[in-house]
Amino acid sequence: MNNDEQIAYWNGDAGRKWAQRDALMSRMLAPVAEALMDHANIEDAKSALDVGCGGGSETLMLAARLEPHAEVLGVDVSAPLLEVARQELASLGDAGKGVNFVEADASCHDFGDQKFDLLFSRFGVMFFEDATEAFTHLRSAMQPRGRLAFACWQSLANNPWTALPLKAALSVLPSPPPPKPRSPGPFAFAESEYITSLLGDAGWNDIVVTPHTISMDWEDSGGFEATAREMVNTGPVGRFLADVDSITRDAVHAAAAEVLAPYFQNNSLSLPGAVWLVTANN
Ligand SMILES: C[S@@+](CC[C@H](N)C(=O)[O-])C[C@H]1O[C@@H](n2cnc3c(N)ncnc32)[C@H](O)[C@@H]1O
Repeated sequence: MNNDEQIAYWNGDAGRKWAQRDALMSRMLAPVAEALMDHANIEDAKSALDVGCGGGSETLMLAARLEPHAEVLGVDVSAPLLEVARQELASLGDAGKGVNFVEADASCHDFGDQKFDLLFSRFGVMFFEDATEAFTHLRSAMQPRGRLAFACWQSLANNPWTALPLKAALSVLPSPPPPKPRSPGPFAFAESEYITSLLGDAGWNDIVVTPHTISMDWEDSGGFEATAREMVNTGPVGRFLADVDSITRDAVHAAAAEVLAPYFQNNSLSLPGAVWLVTANN
């Protein structure tokens, strides 16, 4: 399986930009990690693997939630994001004992003899070229009856925080070819039946896919216009802006600002989002 395109993406501009904004992103996405931990019945795990751990904020939340001596390993392909994770870990001193990070492709990495009780992920498992093969491999790193718990996005239509700025951007930019359904990316697991069938094919049992709604709250980063720019640049629309000239980029930001303005209230740009909370057992 070849995940080179995603590995290059998360080590390029996108990974570096996310790394710079990781503190803001981790505050915004903390409720998703909390909802998943509350939902997934994970408390007994003594060892956990956090797949696509990024800047590691949810890895550290997970470690704090599990048994005092739990071992938690965060795995990610992005060097810039892992640098953030390792800095955060170092700042914890002894409180971070038991947590480690490894730079590797989770879909094929050899995790050695260690078998995990829990495979956890917040938005880190939708980027595999061959998802069934990846989840089969990950299952082989689990204890018998090991638990799977991950959060992923529902469809674009159920996520106005991306759909609205995307529509605005495409009123300015030429439409890209429609993405192949289920191809690697934030919305690869939009269809719950697909998640159920791919996890079943990968040998997981007791698969449950539960809808959960969230509010995506971008903190005020210097007034409405600056906050809207931040949101557009950081979210999936940012992918379309990497190679455009500054006039086009400004036009996209102006179009997005128009549709986002009603959502800026109390110093926060808040739009609805919808995720799947997915659980299964080995
Ligand atoms: C949307 S980010 C989520 C990061 C983090 N879990 C969070 O919620 O803040 C997706 C992460 O998955 C990682 N990723 C993508 N493909 C991967 C792979 N094959 N193996 C490990 N990590 C991967 C990316 O580098 C990125 O850090």
